[in-house]
Amino acid sequence: MIIAVDGPAASGKGTLAEGLAEHYQLPHLDTGLLYRAVGLMVADDLESPDFTERAIAAARALKPGQLPERKQLTSAGAGVLASHVAVIREVREAMRDYQRNFALQPGGAVLDGRDIGTVVCPEADVKLFIVADSKARMERRARQLEARGLTVDRYALYHQIEERDARDSANPNGGFYKADDAHLLDTTLLDIQAALRAAVAIVDGVVARREKP
Ligand code: C5P
Repeated sequence: MIIAVDGPAASGKGTLAEGLAEHYQLPHLDTGLLYRAVGLMVADDLESPDFTERAIAAARALKPGQLPERKQLTSAGAGVLASHVAVIREVREAMRDYQRNFALQPGGAVLDGRDIGTVVCPEADVKLFIVADSKARMERRARQLEARGLTVDRYALYHQIEERDARDSANPNGGFYKADDAHLLDTTLLDIQAALRAAVAIVDGVVARREKP
């Protein structure tokens, strides 16, 4: 079974995808980490006139099995850098095969990102599109960062999330929208356990309908 979990920054899709992977005993790929790794590889080139070429070269050289440590990948800065490299068509193409192969492994997988249900794996068995309002997403991300001992400027974080959403939604090469056959899950008012229960109910419902004679 392939489960695609898409949604904007800090919507809870990563935590949900991890929970679903554990629940259904499937391997999980957080595809945002790939874009974040490429972003970090060209962090010093953002203002360079060759930024696009360097980002493409970095994406083609990326070894998904050897990513930087998680703390570095999940920093707010890496998220912003990721959204800059993610608008480049060749960067997305360079990483698509790896994501598709991961999805198509025997037994299936759970992948989370922005374009899993639309581009990477349109044939996924179950597609979830996770949303939450910007304030709730900012607060969740702020708490995650504070749990790591970081000081958070909530105003700046809110704007960073909005700016990233805008860049992602306008990405001409992105495929960041809800697939027609995706199930919308709004987690604004749900804690993680409630959101996971809702996601499992959706997946179980799809499976039950498919198994009906
Ligand atoms: O999901 P996460 O916040 O880690 O993603 C970081 C950035 O990587 C996103 O803002 C987006 O620009 C990009 N991304 C993407 N397609 C994906 C996953 C992430 O464009 N499948």
